Amino acid sequence: MLINGQPSHLISALDRGLQYGDGLFETLAVINGKPALLDRHLERLVAGCQALGMVQPDINQLREESRAEAAQTSRAVLKIILTRGEGGRGYNPASTMTPTRIIHTTPWPDYPDDHARVGVAVRLCDTRLGWNARLAGLKHLNRLEQVLARAEWSDPGINEGVVLDGADNVIEGTMSNLFLVKSGQLITPLLDQCGVKGIMRQVVIETARDLAIKAEEQQVRVDDLKAADGLFLTNSLIGIWPVRVFDGVEYPVNLIDQTLLRTVISKGFATV
Ligand SMILES: Cc1ncc(COP(=O)(O)O)c(C=O)c1O
Repeated sequence: MLINGQPSHLISALDRGLQYGDGLFETLAVINGKPALLDRHLERLVAGCQALGMVQPDINQLREESRAEAAQTSRAVLKIILTRGEGGRGYNPASTMTPTRIIHTTPWPDYPDDHARVGVAVRLCDTRLGWNARLAGLKHLNRLEQVLARAEWSDPGINEGVVLDGADNVIEGTMSNLFLVKSGQLITPLLDQCGVKGIMRQVVIETARDLAIKAEEQQVRVDDLKAADGLFLTNSLIGIWPVRVFDGVEYPVNLIDQTLLRTVISKGFATV
């Protein structure tokens, strides 16, 4: 683990990331010792810093440190955490604070390989996401909603949970974004009030549009999920998981256009 560029496991208890969840993070796949889509993740981090009014990090330094940390392993998860830093008075942040950089790898999760092939089982969570247009889309450090939603089930046969907002709109999975396949077109929930704008979600939208497959962000309700031809989940580690069953409804898992699937996987796990 690198903390501010130095091998360490320790940060100050006064760091605002711990005190207030005041910061951002990225989770990347490491493949053959290299982080996948590193530049896209760093761009999202910089955009998040702008949105939160944090001091801009040195991107070249973050890139070098991320590559150095990833090079210690072959297949792993790389996490980049950037907090606003240490200090300020209560909630009031000082404008000059130096961000804290935490970069570390963890073992690759033991997701069975066949999830991508045979699909996954998904439930509907009770925990709701709160609206906050200023935080919507950001991968900020406040993840209590996801922690509570994920704690709702312990059945290992359930692979993911769909989370709604307080107005019954479908937003995403606890750790993933969600797409509906309907008459060959793709629909993904609007994330203007809550939810994380995932990197893999963006790769899917861009790739679909390149292939002239309509891909739209829309308001989505649970009935829309149940009426869809198919569903799939995305994130930077899983790539694409088709949904086999959601809340008692079964779906075919081979509905995703094969060119789209192959292109998303090759783009989504590219290491240069
Ligand atoms: C709540 C949530 N939504 C969406 C995503 C997908 O984001 P990405 O595609 O950037 O991995 C994640 C990833 O961890 C997440 O935690």
